[in-house]
Amino acid sequence: MGMPYNEKVIEYFQNPKNVGEMEDPDAYAKEGSPACGDMVALYLKVDEETHEIKDIKFKSYGCASNIATGSIITEMAKGKTIEEAKEIGWEDAAEELGGLPDLKTHCSVLAVDSLREAIRNYEERHGIGEEERETTEEVVEERLKHVMNPMKGQDVMKTELINDVKVEEGKTVTVEVDLESDHQFASAIEEDIIEKLEPRWDVEEVKVVFSEG
Ligand code: FES
Repeated sequence: MGMPYNEKVIEYFQNPKNVGEMEDPDAYAKEGSPACGDMVALYLKVDEETHEIKDIKFKSYGCASNIATGSIITEMAKGKTIEEAKEIGWEDAAEELGGLPDLKTHCSVLAVDSLREAIRNYEERHGIGEEERETTEEVVEERLKHVMNPMKGQDVMKTELINDVKVEEGKTVTVEVDLESDHQFASAIEEDIIEKLEPRWDVEEVKVVFSEG
């Protein structure tokens, strides 16, 4: 059976660029795909003055399309400013790769989302760009849309796993999860929630509370 991928995709899949983890990154994101349950982690080093992406690495648990797209976007983003890199879309990545099968669109979307999320993570840490905004309950709910519910393969907001969100004075964020604390996924979900909210420039503390059952 012939492979549905062109040569460039296969080359980038077999010899991906910028793969790995980064010690002490300036920004980080881990994104999951609701369509297939795969994950991508992406790390950035950013020049604080110029906002230029100095280094970028990614790790993928996705398929060949995902690895090839992750690989090409890291090459496309390196040397660009975060403002420029935000403009890279999955169509640009797919075009640069010489095309991907339609069925595999979500895989390149996942790679591009992880880059955008890592840039957003940088903005959140520094309170710049779109993330100059204060953390409100609405912002928290929006950020929770990027936390996966591993039981359903969709985000925790859509799957109604979150009972309540509170943002108090001094910016303590409390998120109430509709799950017992000894549930097998409780600690993974807690970790992901903290990871999404704690980096925000104005958040002091994140508390994740589980229901008593
Ligand atoms: Fe999951 Fe491609 S099928 S990333």
